[in-house]
Amino acid sequence: MTTELIIQRPDDLHLHLRDGDMLKVVTPHTSADFGRAIVMPNLIPPVVTTDQARAYRDRILASVPSDHPFEPLMTVYLTEGTDPEDLATGTREGLIRGVKLYPAGATTNSDSGVRDVNNVLPVLEKMAEIGLPLLIHGEVTSPEIDIFDRERVFIETILAPLQQKIPDLKIVLEHITTKDGVDFVKSCADNVAATITTHHLIINRNHILVGGIRPHYYCLPVAKREEHRLALRSAAISGDKRFFLGTDSAPHTTGSKESSCGCAGIYSSINTLSCLAHVFEEEEALEKLEGFASLHGAAFYGLSLNPQKTKLVKQQNPVDYPETIAIGEETITVFDPGFPLYWDVKNLPA
Ligand code: NCD
Ligand code: ZN
Repeated sequence: MTTELIIQRPDDLHLHLRDGDMLKVVTPHTSADFGRAIVMPNLIPPVVTTDQARAYRDRILASVPSDHPFEPLMTVYLTEGTDPEDLATGTREGLIRGVKLYPAGATTNSDSGVRDVNNVLPVLEKMAEIGLPLLIHGEVTSPEIDIFDRERVFIETILAPLQQKIPDLKIVLEHITTKDGVDFVKSCADNVAATITTHHLIINRNHILVGGIRPHYYCLPVAKREEHRLALRSAAISGDKRFFLGTDSAPHTTGSKESSCGCAGIYSSINTLSCLAHVFEEEEALEKLEGFASLHGAAFYGLSLNPQKTKLVKQQNPVDYPETIAIGEETITVFDPGFPLYWDVKNLPA
């Protein structure tokens, strides 16, 4: 039985760090275990220009402990007013690594999002020209579409036609939750990839709804049926370079989730690597974890590998993770995978 695994230091290719006090509390959890992270721009107000992304990067860097080797990779939030030249400038500088498409109203803080992709075609064409990836929250927002169908319908009605219109555009379909998402990515060439979260490899929709409503398992896109979770697991362990880790760790205070209208988002930064080692071991695919967490995403974004390594060690007794993290008078509730975590994470120097 394998009880030790050494992998290249991982990257988190989809992460929410927030701002202010929340940023200061959560950043060290990510920078402890990850070399880089693609940081989402859905602040209030959102990060929409290169200058705003630079200022946000500096605030993130100020909350990284000095002994953590960590680089935030910045994104801007696509609006119907985005200036393609501003994106080109930010990309040339090496600052902007992706542009986030939120359909208006799709999720937390997405009100400034795009109402119709046809309104942003000139921006997308410029991005294809300069090799800047489009990061997509792939859900339609029409009220008549069932929430469990919103990813599939987005793929069929918006993504597939867009991909045919601009076939050279680099696309990441973020946090896929369906077999439809897996199949779409597999049907495309290497310039289309998907991130998969830790929690969507572990929970299905029963976890949210059976035996009482469990707001800490609620996120968007919402977890689907078991067959979809299994399809995500197969993709994650397949070794296919188009699938890689993006935790979508999205902190909200416990109070704002345990409410009559609870926020969407699961906080998993602190225990993600232990959860993933458990999942990959369960699938008898531990040797595929490095590709998923450390190699495929870096290759897609054209990054060299992190120089450090990470050692995962299976302990006799469960690793002690906090159930909650204090933030002022409040807390953030940590993702509970529903099983004890035995894999401990040790960061090795370069
Ligand atoms: C994210 C958040 O809270 O910012 N929530 C979530 O459920 N994933 C937004 C997002 O990525 O959809
Ligand atoms: Zn997200």
